[in-house]
Amino acid sequence: MLISTKKGITMNYMYVANWKMYLSFNESINFCLQNYDTLKKLSHNANIIICPSFVALTPIIEIFKNSTIAVGAQNCSENISGPYTGEVSAQTLTQAGVAYCIVGHNERRIHYGETSDIITQKIALLYQHAIQPIICIGETKKEYNNKTTFTVLAQQLKSIINAIQHNNNHIIIAYEPIWSIGTNIIPEQHHLQEIFIWLTELLTIHLPDNSIQLLYGGSVNPTSIKQLKNIPHINGFLIGKASTNFENFAKIIV
Ligand code: PGA
Repeated sequence: MLISTKKGITMNYMYVANWKMYLSFNESINFCLQNYDTLKKLSHNANIIICPSFVALTPIIEIFKNSTIAVGAQNCSENISGPYTGEVSAQTLTQAGVAYCIVGHNERRIHYGETSDIITQKIALLYQHAIQPIICIGETKKEYNNKTTFTVLAQQLKSIINAIQHNNNHIIIAYEPIWSIGTNIIPEQHHLQEIFIWLTELLTIHLPDNSIQLLYGGSVNPTSIKQLKNIPHINGFLIGKASTNFENFAKIIV
């Protein structure tokens, strides 16, 4: 399905499969091999990005090398190189052929203490290494209940905007209400409509030279997708659990 952005650019919906730590190495490879033909067909009308664990990146890049299916990482280091045991640099990712990288996911903010500063450092390094960041923002249930969603998102976006406003790179922002991640609850239609109109306006004002692509993430599944595809300004989806089951993933895309 083709959608139009505010600047009149026409693009297919983007579907980012964030496999988190759900699939093992073997399961990840088998998913790609067994569903290769169908994924390739689906990718004629959809921009599909598979984000497996670090160790599965290279074999999956190899599997999809003759297709338009892209491969993304779920994280990268905020440092260029050096004594950071267990970390993977943006340089390594780009050399491995990684095209995208998720940044600022709530699970990293919460479990690994990622701050806005760390997130902006990662974004800068990714752009320097020609990897497209997929930048996640979102509010907690408490913040939503207290009606501070816009304040929280504006705060999260402030440092992100400062980090990228001097270039004209493509920007991908994924709005993921934290209370929707893995809960099977999605926000009401009017909340999402308001958020995506607001995000489009704010980003267009602050980043006039950048092309902007907005994603929604949080409990995207074959049922919720129907409602989500009716919301203007959503250019794609970040899909966790449901993307690890091929049948569900395909139903979301079709
Ligand atoms: P979920 O996760 O689809 O399992 O809710 C989304 C995400 O965390 O990106």
